[in-house]
Parts: sequence; structure tokens; C-alpha cells
Amino acid sequence: MKVPNMLDAKKRHQNKINYTNYDNNNYKFGENKKFFVRTYGCQMNEHDSEKIRGMLTNAGFINSDDINGADIIILNTCAIRENAHDKVFGFLGVLKHMKKTNKNLIVGITGCMSQEEVVVKEILNKYKQVDFVIGTHNIDRLLPVLKEKIDTNKRQIEVLSYEGDVVENIPVNRDSKYSAWVDIIYGCDKFCTYCIVPYTRGTQRSRHHEDIVNEVKELVKNGYKEVTLLGQNVNAYGKDLNNNYNMANLLEDVAKTGIPRVRFMTSHPWDFTDDMIDVIKKYDNIMPSIHLPVQSGSNKVLKLMGRKYTKEEYIDLFDKLKTIPNVTISTDIIVGFPSETEEDFEETLKLCEYCKFDNAYTFIFSPREGTAALKLKDETTLEEKEQRLYKLNELVNKYFLESNQKMIGKVVDVLVDSKSEKEGMLCGYTDTNKLINFYGKESSIGEIVKVEVLDAKTWSIDGKQKWNN
Ligand code: SAH
Ligand code: SF4
Ligand code: F3S
Repeated sequence: MKVPNMLDAKKRHQNKINYTNYDNNNYKFGENKKFFVRTYGCQMNEHDSEKIRGMLTNAGFINSDDINGADIIILNTCAIRENAHDKVFGFLGVLKHMKKTNKNLIVGITGCMSQEEVVVKEILNKYKQVDFVIGTHNIDRLLPVLKEKIDTNKRQIEVLSYEGDVVENIPVNRDSKYSAWVDIIYGCDKFCTYCIVPYTRGTQRSRHHEDIVNEVKELVKNGYKEVTLLGQNVNAYGKDLNNNYNMANLLEDVAKTGIPRVRFMTSHPWDFTDDMIDVIKKYDNIMPSIHLPVQSGSNKVLKLMGRKYTKEEYIDLFDKLKTIPNVTISTDIIVGFPSETEEDFEETLKLCEYCKFDNAYTFIFSPREGTAALKLKDETTLEEKEQRLYKLNELVNKYFLESNQKMIGKVVDVLVDSKSEKEGMLCGYTDTNKLINFYGKESSIGEIVKVEVLDAKTWSIDGKQKWNN
């Protein structure tokens, strides 16, 4: 049994990072048993779930979208805020009942919650229904751990508190046939004081650029139209490799593969370089949509958050990015950070009034175990924080609608994703990453087509496919 330790998780560069290949072992013990994976959290976790599905199907297990009848249930968890925790622990209650009727059901926990000492202790003490726990650093060990559980019927806990290897060639079952996630950098070294990610995902580790570019080339060969380069801070790509090859170089090489659409997320403002902006402007297939979390508009709060930029520096960068033709910029904002006053919050509103973000994800601060902000005094009541969130959302929503309304009458490029939830319509994303529902040909799913925008809502736009393209 290997259990996590948050103090160890904070240490950096204690181990040399190895670049290895997935050890396939030719496991074939699936015997057509069904598995079900539920994913919480960010795109990196979504992509990890695609790897989990890939490894299990390779061993003969069958992916099921229906939890009933599954022989193995895996919860790929997120630790970013308290409510993510609550959802998982709540769901474990449901699984306890399912296990009563299906004695052979196997329940596994993977993802960021597995890396938390308190969570694993709680699972060990109170949640006997969990059969195995694997951390984020050794997800490639899924099959041997599961096999051990099946062979011995003993609970397996395998979580490393130091950064794992960069493992290439893990099999992956992608959710989409047109749009693919591609990891470029694992972990995070920024240690923003509110954030648990540097503890759950370990130190920054970049994949070798040749491996990334080869993966994208393979995707192009297989007809993919879009890649999203993933990392907690993609702009730091390459810094750990000291080989004079950075995010701007990578963006350029990925664009040169000819894949029709390149996206990347998430960008920490601190590492966004002018070279990156030049490359984005140079290549039409790098999409003009940038996620640039600001977190707060108050310099005092930004300092306490350890974000390492001021409001003025953020705005300078924002203005530079706005010189990219047609660009849209989205953000993340936290309200109710410890010691945030009404005046600090007003500063955040002012910044939003200036930036008029095209989209924003807004959160109430959630204290996380092991992080520096946990120790800060917090005198704001939950009610006040909720009011701030409400007020902020009202403001940012107004700008989303304005940004969408500007699209009316324009003809935009859309990568058609699927049938829409709206009767008779299809849905997809514009180059500027706006969700669009539109009337069009079903045979266009997976293609990039021209759509005329007819109407705008806060969260999406509506349109009609131009037939002569
Ligand atoms: N790596 C990304 C963020 C990943 S987490 C970046 O630095 O931009 C996604 C968002 O969750 C963050 O941008 C932040 O707004 C929010 N978040 C992270 N920790 C949080 C916490 N403890 N409480 C509330 N929101 C948090
Ligand atoms: Fe968390 Fe900050 Fe790293 Fe983003 S950059 S993952 S917010 S520590
Ligand atoms: Fe959540 Fe881990 Fe992603 S904490 S947001 S799943 S990196």
C-alpha cells in the first residue's frame, strides 16, 4: 500500500524525471466485462479518462455509458473546490448500495482526490466500498493494480507523492473523432496560494516536442480537425527541459502539421510571451481564442494569491492580445478570497468593465487542505461572498451577451460537433470558441463549415448553415 503525503507532494525536483514508454504487459483479463468511468474536473482529467478507457479496452474490457450493469466503476476525481469532493463522496454512498446487489462490483478512485492525504485516510477508514485507489502520477499502472485486486481480492492503494515519469504511448480511446486533447506539460510549479493542483499533479514536466508533434501528425492522418494542447500552465512549456525550445516554438511546429485548428489551455499571464503572440498572428490555424485567468482585479488580493502580476500588467498583456485579429478572451475569477474587501471586489468589477470578457468562469474561494491560503484569516461571510458572485455574474453575463450580439449577421467557421440538444439543430464551436446551435446538414458533423449567425443568447449563438460551401 502506497498512501499520499502532502508534505512530500510539496517538495520539488527530489527525483529525476524519467521519460518512459507505457508497459503494455499484454494483459488480457477483461473477459468482456463492462466498465464505466465518471469524470470530474478539468480537460486534463477528461483526457486521463480517455487513457483509462484506452488501457481497459486494450485488456478486453468493454466501455459502457450505462452505470447499471457495469462490473467496474471508476471515479476520476477533481480536488479543486470543496463541492467537487462532496459530489464524489455523495456518489460513493450510491455505489455502496449498488455493491449490496452486485457483490462482484469493483469500485476505483483515480484523479486528483486520490493524491490528498485526508481523502485517502477517509476512504481507508470509512469507505470500504472502494476497491482501489491510484494517483495521478501512475495512472499507467491501472491494469496491474486492477489485476492484483481481482487476483487477491485485497484492496489496492497506489498513490505516489513525488512526480511520476512522463509515460508515452498510453493507449487512448478518444471521445471525439474530430477534436483531440493533447497533453504538452504535466503538473504546475506556480503554487498560487489557493490552489491544490501543484500538490495533486506534481512538478512541471514537459513532454518532448517530437512526441507531441508526432502525436498531432498521427491525428491529422486519422482525420482530426482540431487539437487542444493541454497543461495547467501551457505557457511554461519547455522551461523544465532547458533545450531552448519554448511554447512559441511548439505552437509553430504544431501549426505547421496542417491540422485545421490548434487551441491551447490554460495560459498563466506570467509566462505569455510576445513570441507566442507573433506565432498566433502568423498562423491562421491557431485559433484566436485565449483563456487568460485573471482571478482578481485587486493588486492586494493578487499579491496574496501569489499570482505574480499586477492588475496593470494583466491589462497590458490583455491589450497586446487584443491586437490579434478577431480574438476572444475568456477568464477565471475567484471572489471571497481571504481578506478581500468590498473595495477589492469593486476593483475586480472595474477590471471586468474594462476587459469585457467574452466568457468567464467565476468561483467562490474554497479553502483547500495543504495550501497557503488555508491559513489566511477570512472574515467575509458566505452570504457576502454569494452576493459578490451574483453581482459579478450579472456584470460578466452582460458582456457575454454583447460579445455574442456582435456576431449577428456574420458568417463564421464552425467545427460541427454533434446534434444539438435543441430539436432539429446541430451544434459546434466557432473559431473564436463560441458555442453555436444551427440548422444544417447532419452529414457535416466532423467538418468545418460556414454558418450565418442569426441570433445571440448569453451562452450561445444560433445560426443557419450556408449551403454553398
Ligand atoms: N491552471 C489554471 C487553473 C486551473 S484551476 C490557471 O492557473 O489558470 C481552474 C480555476 O479554478 C482557477 O483558474 C481558479 O479560478 C479556480 N480555483 C482554483 N483553486 C480554487 C479554490 N481553492 N477556490 C476557488 N476557485 C479555485
Ligand atoms: Fe493552480 Fe496557479 Fe498552477 Fe493554475 S497556475 S494550476 S491556479 S497553482
Ligand atoms: Fe481538478 Fe485536478 Fe484538474 S484538481 S481541475 S482535476 S488538475
